[in-house]
Amino acid sequence: MMIDHEVLISEENLKKRVRELGDQISKDYDGKEICMICVLKGGVIFMVDLAKYITVPMTMDFMAVSSYGNDFTSTGVVKIVKDLDESIEGKHVLIVEDIIDSGRTLHYLMNLLKERKPSSIKICTLLDKPEQRLVDVSVEYVGFVIPDQFVLGYGLDYQQKYRNLPYIGVVQPKEG
Ligand code: IMP
Ligand code: MG
Repeated sequence: MMIDHEVLISEENLKKRVRELGDQISKDYDGKEICMICVLKGGVIFMVDLAKYITVPMTMDFMAVSSYGNDFTSTGVVKIVKDLDESIEGKHVLIVEDIIDSGRTLHYLMNLLKERKPSSIKICTLLDKPEQRLVDVSVEYVGFVIPDQFVLGYGLDYQQKYRNLPYIGVVQPKEG
């Protein structure tokens, strides 16, 4: 059984925007090497697609944090479930995330990674839900700004499922 949802961002529009972001990032990092850090699991499909459009040298590393208490709301408790494999000291780090909501996850991650002395550190998020922001985070690259609704697909899950949908779907808000 599939959760009730409708398409918010089509596969075509995702592809187009991801390519634009890749072009922009490649320009901005001209002459440099990027260390792309994917925040598992939600960021994985986005990062893999984005990486195809990066034309400067790059490496990939993965980090897993858990920030969710239940299905729909962030608790503010961020825990490192998997740390990076490589040192980021002296590197140009680009954190790749699926979505920024309260901002707690990225705020915590930024502070943690800054202590490891990268040359630079920036954030690229596919989706931004600014209405729910509780902690200020400066985000360099945003794919789409979306309203405060629960979304799934293209890496984003609902109870660990639907990450494989090729589009971003929005769950129907409950009536009444
Ligand atoms: P934040 O700490 O509140 O910014 O939460 C960010 C994390 O919450 C994201 O990396 C997602 O894993 C998850 N998240 C926030 N909103 C949604 C959503 O609408 N659908 C699926 N996951 C979400
Ligand atoms: Mg995430």
